[in-house]
Amino acid sequence: MHCAAGKPKAPPIKTQGIKTKLAPFIASRVEWDRRGRWVEPFLGSGAVLLNVRPPRALAADSCAPIINFYRALQSGQITAARVETFLQREGERLQTEGASRYYAIRERFNDTGNPLDFLFVSRACFNGLMRFNRKGRFNTPFCKKPERFRPAYITKICNQVQWASDAMRGRDWEFARVDWRETLAGVGEEDFIYADPPYAGRHADYYNAWGETDGLELAQALKGAPCRFLCSTWMGNRFRRNERLLEWFAGYRIETFEHYYHLGATESLRHAMQEGLVIGFGNDCSSAWVGNPKGQDKRRREFGPS
Ligand SMILES: C[S@@+](CC[C@H](N)C(=O)[O-])C[C@H]1O[C@@H](n2cnc3c(N)ncnc32)[C@H](O)[C@@H]1O
Repeated sequence: MHCAAGKPKAPPIKTQGIKTKLAPFIASRVEWDRRGRWVEPFLGSGAVLLNVRPPRALAADSCAPIINFYRALQSGQITAARVETFLQREGERLQTEGASRYYAIRERFNDTGNPLDFLFVSRACFNGLMRFNRKGRFNTPFCKKPERFRPAYITKICNQVQWASDAMRGRDWEFARVDWRETLAGVGEEDFIYADPPYAGRHADYYNAWGETDGLELAQALKGAPCRFLCSTWMGNRFRRNERLLEWFAGYRIETFEHYYHLGATESLRHAMQEGLVIGFGNDCSSAWVGNPKGQDKRRREFGPS
């Protein structure tokens, strides 16, 4: 399977662990006849779903603002034209009023959940790093750029909104705000799962608390699923290696490669990370490998049955 649009495009929302650049590689590892649903229990920004564009999908995340945003886009409540009007108006106010306008919109978003406000704060927050406190309220500070919403930036966001809206038009996609366990409980033999859980111990906030027990539980659920799956995961960095993953997915093929994330304020968040993609073929994990990664990414290595 390939990315529908060739070169990957970025979605209007940015989340931690966004996979835009990796979408073509992930898509190239999907072996699926598209008869069932593309099931994505950790949707995040939607970068993979929007680039792969399956005909049917269950796109889920426990983060309410993300699901509300995509539902609003799907229903036509949000359009590129509405986003343009909104960002022009609020962008002008941001320029004259400065940080106080950002914090007023952040407060309004936390009180009402308005998806346009969500887009605004996610694109004007510090380092683009969305964080929610223990009460589930967005608490990232302002990026300190009152001139943030210049015409070219608004156009860029509107193009991303239009692209996402076009991607879902005519396709049978369901957006659900549910825990991953509920999402995976309903998968069938013809479905295909792409799982991209939060990284254990990194970026932990209200929607991204993830520990070893969660990782183990997810690995068991994926291995027991009646269909094929791919699972993106953190393999390590220059300090540490994710040994647990190799245990949990012993016998499964795992492709790894280096990747840099550009979201984040601190140096530690900007180190190269080793990403992994676990390739699962239901209960028949050993026989179905047909991929040929040679030459596509020289930095990539493989783990798996020899
Ligand atoms: C690494 S991000 C996914 C990134 C996504 N693939 C992308 O390209 O943007 C993980 C996502 O899992 C969601 N999440 C965290 N815990 C969850 C849970 N228990 N059930 C469902 N989603 C969860 C977070 O809200 C976050 O959006």
